[in-house]
Amino acid sequence: MFIYLTMLSAMLWTQCFNVEVHPQKEFDLQKFSGPWYRVGLADDSPLFVPWRRYVQVSKGNISFDMDGNVNLTAWGTGPKGCICQIYYYKKTDLPGQFTYFSDRQQRVKDVTVVETNYTEYSMVVKYKELVKEFSQVSLYGRLPILREEILERFRNYSLSLGFSAESILTPSSIDPCSDSRH
Ligand SMILES: *[C@@H]1O[C@H](CO)[C@@H](O)[C@H](O)[C@H]1NC(C)=O
Ligand SMILES: *[C@@H]1O[C@H](CO)[C@@H](O)[C@H](O)[C@H]1NC(C)=O
Ligand SMILES: *[C@@H]1O[C@H](CO)[C@@H](O)[C@H](O)[C@H]1NC(C)=O
Ligand SMILES: *[C@@H]1O[C@H](CO)[C@@H](O)[C@H](O)[C@H]1NC(C)=O
Repeated sequence: MFIYLTMLSAMLWTQCFNVEVHPQKEFDLQKFSGPWYRVGLADDSPLFVPWRRYVQVSKGNISFDMDGNVNLTAWGTGPKGCICQIYYYKKTDLPGQFTYFSDRQQRVKDVTVVETNYTEYSMVVKYKELVKEFSQVSLYGRLPILREEILERFRNYSLSLGFSAESILTPSSIDPCSDSRH
């Protein structure tokens, strides 16, 4: 009976928490900082569907303060030309995990660097209690183009978190605002 219950709870556990998001082991913020291109994006939110076809590779820069809080400065095309936005990621006790207040969605989310090799690519998950509508996976590259193997790794990972194939975007065009001033 005990073994049966243990197995059952193990099964329920994996069903409810099959989306476990852990930061990169021994995360090093210094090595993670600096310029990145957002080469891939997975977003299943219904409101985002009409925007999928406009997604381009865009550029950002990660800077941090002495406490370990992060600013992501992102450049992109707005309604009236190039815009620059700053996203503030507050550090948590877990290296590689931050919290972020989404103005657009008016809620706090976790931002986790789940995998990075610092010199080539990173995968970053933004989520709110695993509610798919408010979750996102980003693939960052130090260069605007990444090897097909890395793109496949990103697609596989996003699918494993439950994102639909249509929601996983790896655009080939680069936002013209990305390189204008940097
Ligand atoms: C980009 O981030 C680096 C490292 O944190 C910082 O030294 C640099 O000033 C930042 N550049 C811009 C343009 O924000
Ligand atoms: C983030 O940006 C804000 C506003 O521009 C600035 O006051 C703050 O010092 C920056 N922090 C970091 C970690 O770069
Ligand atoms: C990490 O980045 C280097 C390029 O700097 C690359 O040669 C290497 O294959 C990457 N590792 C993985 C696991 O992708
Ligand atoms: C992606 O998943 C497929 C199917 O499971 C597998 O064959 C492939 O090796 C995976 N690719 C990477 C880069 O992890």
